[in-house]
Amino acid sequence: MIQVREFTEQDAQSVGSLVKKAVEGLPKETYGQYLSEYYSRNSPKALLDFLQHGAIFVAVEGQSVVGTARLDFIKQKIYGMFVDPSFQGRGVGALLLDAVEKLAAKKGFKQVVLSSTIPAARFYEKRGFKRIDENPANKAFDRIVVSGPVVDMKKGLFSTKN
Ligand SMILES: CC(C)(COP(=O)(O)OP(=O)(O)OC[C@H]1O[C@@H](n2cnc3c(N)ncnc32)[C@H](O)[C@@H]1OP(=O)(O)O)[C@@H](O)C(=O)NCCC(=O)NCCS
Repeated sequence: MIQVREFTEQDAQSVGSLVKKAVEGLPKETYGQYLSEYYSRNSPKALLDFLQHGAIFVAVEGQSVVGTARLDFIKQKIYGMFVDPSFQGRGVGALLLDAVEKLAAKKGFKQVVLSSTIPAARFYEKRGFKRIDENPANKAFDRIVVSGPVVDMKKGLFSTKN
């Protein structure tokens, strides 16, 4: 059974390996010249630093990490959504997104934003995200390390704070 829980320090290596595995399943041009920078953003240290201003979720089956997603509390933005290629299309991404949105609503956020790769944008649309704009990567919400175009998206939330 797949379960979603918050990341702990012990998950850092597994999350880094999962991100690599998922990125290797994407077209080469997705990260292009930014690939090594992207991997360093997923190093154990970078993941632990992220926890200073955000939360990371992992989807696990037994001891294995099969998916991950993050919420940045300052930017109110979702990052780093990845599902192991052999687990894609089985609802893991939806479970992770639900966990992230639930936390965002609990923190009182009125909306969350994200910058999606072109193929993943349909996944987010199915989960209620609206397209704001399609941009070259360097014009997205903030400096982003993909080389292809991205779709900036947002979803309104009902705050559950209080
Ligand atoms: C995009 C991704 C996170 C989706 O996770 P997933 O576990 O495969 O998705 P799910 O199985 O939870 O799918 C949920 C719904 O979205 C749909 N969906 C998933 N991927 C889709 C796609 N590429 N196009 C259209 N619909 C898609 C599913 O059919 C499903 O629909 P349903 O609720 O009507 O059954 C995952 O495929 C992935 O990691 N891709 C590679 C990395 C990537 O591109 N990450 C996003 C960076 S922004």
